[in-house]
Amino acid sequence: MTRTVITFGTFDVFHVGHLRVIQRAAALGDRLVVGVSADALNERKKGRAPVFTQDERLEIVAALKPVDAVFLEESLEQKREYIVRHEADVLVMGDDWAGKFDEFEDVCEVVYLSRTPAISTTALIEKISGTA
Ligand code: CTP
Repeated sequence: MTRTVITFGTFDVFHVGHLRVIQRAAALGDRLVVGVSADALNERKKGRAPVFTQDERLEIVAALKPVDAVFLEESLEQKREYIVRHEADVLVMGDDWAGKFDEFEDVCEVVYLSRTPAISTTALIEKISGTA
């Protein structure tokens, strides 16, 4: 039986921390599905638009070797629906979310992976724009 893994993120200004979490998520199963968060969701959540549009971010993530399918994550409240729709056996999240998704343990396994230290999209934007 195929073991499907699902993970979510913005993946804006794609960096090695993104790559590693995707590689590690893929290693937990046979098939990896990635929910890429919509521009509107990011604007609501972070108060700014991503540097790259949702179509560009979807295109980048879809092209990665460990990724089998991508979809647009339109709302944080629909996580359960996405997990069920994509028949995920495992939900992978970064450990900045540790404990926050345990409610889905009735439909899938929930795994939190440690983040790659010292890199984030926010830090990169600040570095590039000279505000860091
Ligand atoms: N991630 C990671 N290590 C990092 C940065 C991100 O493992 N150094 C993981 C997150 O835990 C998440 C995925 O990559 O599972 C997508 O994270 P995202 O929020 O898009 O990236 P960040 O770099 O954290 O973005 P921001 O600075 O805007 O919060």
